[in-house]
Amino acid sequence: MEYRLLGTTGLNVSSLCMGTMSFGNPADEDTSKALFSRARDAGINTFDCADVYNGGEAERILGRCIDGCRDEVIITSKVFNPMSGDMNDRGLSRRHIVSAVEASLKRLGTDRIDIYYAHLDDQSVRLESVLRAFDDLVRAGKIIYPAISNFSAWRTEKALAISRELGYAAPECLQPMYNLVKRQAEVEILPMAGAEQLGVFPYSPLGGGLLSGKYTDESKGAKGRLTENRMYGKRYGNPEYYDVAARLVSHARERGYHPASLAVAWVMSHPAVTAPLIGARDVEQLEPSLAAAEVPMTAEWREELSALGPAPPTATDR
Ligand SMILES: NC(=O)c1ccc[n+]([C@@H]2O[C@H](COP(=O)([O-])OP(=O)(O)OC[C@H]3O[C@@H](n4cnc5c(N)ncnc54)[C@H](OP(=O)(O)O)[C@@H]3O)[C@@H](O)[C@H]2O)c1
Repeated sequence: MEYRLLGTTGLNVSSLCMGTMSFGNPADEDTSKALFSRARDAGINTFDCADVYNGGEAERILGRCIDGCRDEVIITSKVFNPMSGDMNDRGLSRRHIVSAVEASLKRLGTDRIDIYYAHLDDQSVRLESVLRAFDDLVRAGKIIYPAISNFSAWRTEKALAISRELGYAAPECLQPMYNLVKRQAEVEILPMAGAEQLGVFPYSPLGGGLLSGKYTDESKGAKGRLTENRMYGKRYGNPEYYDVAARLVSHARERGYHPASLAVAWVMSHPAVTAPLIGARDVEQLEPSLAAAEVPMTAEWREELSALGPAPPTATDR
């Protein structure tokens, strides 16, 4: 496993990081622990989590996984999504951030979260207030690095400018969606991250499973998130995405690789990317994503894979 510096933090993170969104569902606790161990054996040192994953269960299971090796791993969590029916138990209000971090620390069974994300932007709250709340958590030692996910480039730049002006701990890394069929991040987010020397952990490198190759014509009716989860079914429902997946499968077959290995290696090879967040429901599924670390991806090969689908439109019409 290769290790990469996370932005300008001086922290070394594995070039593949393990997502824990499946911990608790569909992966039961034993399977989640097996995923954690396999990832550790492969050299992964960073584990991505969120309060909302399976109603807090992913954090609870991750907490039990890191018991005994807490100082050897980097763990993340996130705040934003509703955690109950209470209308104030959500969003990025200072009140919610302060209570959410306590709840996450408790579920994780630790005294600090290494990287703490605003899971989504909340434009009903002044950005100054969000950043001040995160800065207070850094000063209190409850989180080490603030981070943001799913923010637009202009909001990210605004967050950086405010943090610098007010002397707050600035977001150190981003978590955008990025895969062969969702390439919007290439237009503004990734160039911005490169220019600002921010860490980047792209999520859904397999498009929620689409690029594993199991949803092709030959295997119609495959079971998985895209057929079981309406939000994901809709997110990846565009028939053109299925064409890209089919082309990836033939390309991978010709070269003797699993399509998932190439899809993850392609994300990994973008110069602004620190490490893709890989996800799996069991260890068998995890293997091809782990094998991405061994793919000798070149700039030319990356171009060939990029050409399997359309490039995203430019940021401005011209
Ligand atoms: N910040 C955010 O908003 C956000 C959003 C999403 C995810 N994340 C993070 O990113 C991590 C990874 O995201 P993701 O789970 O969407 O990644 P992904 O790699 O795009 O999808 C992983 C899913 O694909 C399927 N899959 C994986 N390998 C496979 C294989 N070899 N054969 C067949 N199916 C396979 C599995 O789902 P099925 O078995 O159900 O098909 C697996 O759960 C998450 O765990 C989470 O930490 C963050």
